[in-house]
Amino acid sequence: MKVMVINGPNLNMLGRREVGIYGGATLDDIESLVRRRAGQTGIDIEFFQSNKEGEIIDKIHSAVNNKVEGIVINPAGYTHTSVAIRDALLCVKIPFVEVHISNVAKRDSFRQKSLFSDIAIGTISGLGPVGYVLGLEALKELYGKATE
Ligand code: DQA
Repeated sequence: MKVMVINGPNLNMLGRREVGIYGGATLDDIESLVRRRAGQTGIDIEFFQSNKEGEIIDKIHSAVNNKVEGIVINPAGYTHTSVAIRDALLCVKIPFVEVHISNVAKRDSFRQKSLFSDIAIGTISGLGPVGYVLGLEALKELYGKATE
């Protein structure tokens, strides 16, 4: 099974960024964790981060030609603002899991609105880096072929 893992703006700063909220793991640590677990479950991963909305949209569009069967996405700050990334996910019609490292429900009021939750197959929030692994496992369980 092919899964794309997409990270939005400022997630390249994990490990240095508001450590009390996001923890000490870097994005490289998260990528290693995700790749290890994906390898164990026979999932082929493409891992991507960008601080630019248009690049994230282009990456989502490329998922169709690359035969990606599921997406795990942490849209970061774009969660609360990006109609364009939402529209890109609707265009490609690939099932996706929305992941947040922090528990957004406990945070600022402007973080309470997500433009993704109603079109995601599910949302994982507040479990740290493990959330990405759970997202992968959910995609595999729900959409992976029984033979894999
Ligand atoms: C985040 C939560 C967002 O509100 C925030 O803007 C982020 C990270 C998270 O992973 O907890 O950049 O998506």
